[in-house]
Amino acid sequence: LNYNITRERRYILEVLFNGLRRLEYRGYDSAGISIDADLLPEASSKFRPPPLVFRQEGKIEKLVTNVYQEVHAVDLDLAQNFLIHAGIAHTRWATHGLPSEKNSHPQSSGSGHEFLVVHNGIITNYVVLKETLLRHGYQFESDTDTEVIPKLAKFVYDRLSENTTFNGEETQEVTFRQVVMEVMRQLEGAYALIFKSSHFPNELVACKCGSPLLLGVKDAEEPETKMDQFINRDVLHDRRQGRSKEYFLASDASAVVEHTKTVMVIEDHEVVHIKDGNVSIFKFDTAKARKTGGLPRPASVQRALSILEMEVEQIKKGKYDHFMQKEIHEQPDSLTTTMRGRLTRGRESKMKTVVLGGLKDHLRTIRRSRRIIFIGCGTSYNAALAARPIIEELSGVPVTMELASDLVDRQGPIYREDTAVFVSQSGETADTLQALEYAKSNGALCVGITNTVGSAIARGTHCGVHINAGCEIGVASTKAYTSQIAVMTMVALALGDDSISCRVRREAIIDDLFDLPSKVKEVLKLDTEMKELAKLLMEEQSLLIFGRGYNYATALEGALKVKEVALMHSEGILAGEMKHGPLALVDETLPIIVIATCDATFSKQQSVIQQLQARKGRLIVMCTKGDALSSCSSGACRFIEVPPVQDCLQPIINIIPLQLLAYHLTVLRGYNVDQPRNLAKSVTTQ
Ligand code: G6P
Repeated sequence: LNYNITRERRYILEVLFNGLRRLEYRGYDSAGISIDADLLPEASSKFRPPPLVFRQEGKIEKLVTNVYQEVHAVDLDLAQNFLIHAGIAHTRWATHGLPSEKNSHPQSSGSGHEFLVVHNGIITNYVVLKETLLRHGYQFESDTDTEVIPKLAKFVYDRLSENTTFNGEETQEVTFRQVVMEVMRQLEGAYALIFKSSHFPNELVACKCGSPLLLGVKDAEEPETKMDQFINRDVLHDRRQGRSKEYFLASDASAVVEHTKTVMVIEDHEVVHIKDGNVSIFKFDTAKARKTGGLPRPASVQRALSILEMEVEQIKKGKYDHFMQKEIHEQPDSLTTTMRGRLTRGRESKMKTVVLGGLKDHLRTIRRSRRIIFIGCGTSYNAALAARPIIEELSGVPVTMELASDLVDRQGPIYREDTAVFVSQSGETADTLQALEYAKSNGALCVGITNTVGSAIARGTHCGVHINAGCEIGVASTKAYTSQIAVMTMVALALGDDSISCRVRREAIIDDLFDLPSKVKEVLKLDTEMKELAKLLMEEQSLLIFGRGYNYATALEGALKVKEVALMHSEGILAGEMKHGPLALVDETLPIIVIATCDATFSKQQSVIQQLQARKGRLIVMCTKGDALSSCSSGACRFIEVPPVQDCLQPIINIIPLQLLAYHLTVLRGYNVDQPRNLAKSVTTQ
């Protein structure tokens, strides 16, 4: 096969490919794209070539190479063709069906690609829909849940085209939006969808329910970008004169930010229709439509556009080899941004305060709660665990911990008197979102702690705090973790600021928060040492990390980092549980990291070290700088010496050598640092 497209249309390909590259960090196993073919001068004007579709298992660059092998940009005087264009692209992370060409998106209604769909999410009633469509003679080629969507769209389109009335009204023509709304009415599950159709050339319809979707609008205000070189001069001129616009739909701001910072977050049950260079947004209640069996008239949505606070530089690696490495080394800055404007320290000690704008009106309610429940997944859960003791200490409110999926599975009791705190870097994790809906329906005060302004958790909670760590690209969370702990420590300080008895403690913590970025810079100097340690450990099968108190979370998080990126088995162990099982594993071969920095549990950790040494354990002790001898008085140990801070902030310092260790282990073992096997950055499906 060989297709010619105009040079101008190559811009579309480049924009779509680049968007996919920007989303790469979220994790994927296959990719696909669809653009329109150009109508060549010799073709009959009645002939409309079907959209071009390319799909591929594996990396995006493989797709790019394959597309350019078949599609050639040629000099044709066809700029008119290009004036309006609708293209779609997708990276897939397999849920139903193995990664393969046939399971990649866009999924199609069949030959001729009357309807093409890209989908983020899971359709839970796809089996029923598939059975119905099979009965109507539709043939399926993929193993995906998504394939029912374009097939259903064709089915609906054909039905609507046969009828001259729709929803009780006379209709002249079936519109693309009607088709999509009818499809939405029949879908159950979570989705963000973008539809393209050969019946509606140059139109796109997108809709969402549960999965994230963002609309970007580029017009005269936006500065030119590198990719504008591909655009026809007339088109560029029109854009500068404000006569033309470009619209971008994406599940993540990072795919849009290099084109425009002007965006609108699309909400559940909204339908975006882009037609003739204009966009219209409608809201319609799918649940109500399902109950009544008809389509309620959609209400037009008028919402102000917002401006993204994200810089293109944030989504580039800069001088670093990997995003994870960049993000580890960014932590002095990300922590500074997290604290900016929230902490004040005057000459007089009484002027030390914490102000969290998104929480200040709710502090009284939280203090009076019967308990605070922290809910999250993965690293976010670990961050909450690290902050738990200081919240309990300064607020006096009992804190319980819940992994979001487990809370939902158990339907654990939550009451109106509870405060439920949802911790999530992305703000889009499906399990955490489901737990949020559950806690809300039980009447709890819901607080969000996220890194993503406009995310579903930020919007769905009653109040909250943004961690402002900047865009995190590496799948393994690093800077978001330390910023989450910093934010939750500030929450503890704010909750405790009505208590005179803890004033000295609060002020000591505030002082150390101010010093934190410089302490983080200091601990980052351990990079070379951690690389050496990684060389020593790179062939190992397993690594245990013992921690307790504030640093139980550090042990869990350190082990999670090693496991997820270096693909080495690693376990974080509560040192207090050592004698209840883990001790049986200890011998002279298994490497063990013991976190024994100075805090109230120090003497207990010393005794743990002694017991491990008595069993010839291969110990690496993380201790406070200058404290190596007292931490491990006898026997051979390696040490990781870290600067001291207040005990509740020590987890922020202590995790950094372990992040560096995980990073170097991964590079040395030859694995993909930023996109670890089988993992995704935002787990938007359950
Ligand atoms: C995935 C990511 C982790 C992250 C977890 C929770 O597993 O790979 O890095 O900690 O999701 O994500 P969230 O966005 O809710 O913090």
